[in-house]
Amino acid sequence: MALFERPPSAEREEVFGSDAATRALSVTAVETTFVEDVYERLASSYDLLFGPTLHPGRLQALQRMKIAAGDRVLEVGVGTGINASLYPRDCAVTGIDLSEPMLEKARDRIARKGIVNVRLMQMDATDLKFPDGTFDIVYAPYVISVVPDPVAVAREMRRVCRPGGRIIFLNHFRSPNRVMAWLERAISPFTVHVGFKSDLDLPAFLAQAEVQPVSIEKVNVPRIWSLVTCIKQ
Ligand SMILES: C[S@@+](CC[C@H](N)C(=O)[O-])C[C@H]1O[C@@H](n2cnc3c(N)ncnc32)[C@H](O)[C@@H]1O
Repeated sequence: MALFERPPSAEREEVFGSDAATRALSVTAVETTFVEDVYERLASSYDLLFGPTLHPGRLQALQRMKIAAGDRVLEVGVGTGINASLYPRDCAVTGIDLSEPMLEKARDRIARKGIVNVRLMQMDATDLKFPDGTFDIVYAPYVISVVPDPVAVAREMRRVCRPGGRIIFLNHFRSPNRVMAWLERAISPFTVHVGFKSDLDLPAFLAQAEVQPVSIEKVNVPRIWSLVTCIKQ
């Protein structure tokens, strides 16, 4: 498995600088109601816009998860249920999402496909209604740059994951390349209108969420999305 991809040394100080624990994660701030409005508008076109282009990353994430029979999996931000048919049928999946219109699509999909091991619940990822250590795997595909407070979501994900379990983020993060990073910051106030911040700072996010990755792999084409796997200590 490809592990950490280190940026060139010139960029390293900016990326992994000592202020990672305190610096802003993005130049853009959004409110929960704004996110809900965006996804209400996106629900009918989501699969077309973000289905095939982001699917290689979803497939790679599922491969890396190595889900065992009986594993309890939490998918945070299940959306239209686009991952539902990828899970092995002998694990138990709980999918949560804030957006009722997105969940409606997910309900249709799992009914249409006869999927019985995925249950869906409306819930805010910053306030998960599960006891500590409920899940073996807690997975957030293309969600962490969508939510208003990524660190609060990651902390909740860590809380509901059992010790030794896996916490997995699949997401686009700000590039370590200065020119790309500048561009991603410049467009972030606009990309939030199509559902995500383009400039989320991965090292700052990991430092502030207090999660340690065991691997970071680049996925999709172009390879500007990251599959970040962490083990709950
Ligand atoms: C980009 S979609 C990802 C959907 C799916 N996981 C995928 O692989 O395509 C982001 C999802 O996160 C959901 N979301 C945003 N904020 C949330 C929150 N605070 N709690 C739970 N879900 C949230 C949105 O409603 C949306 O369905």
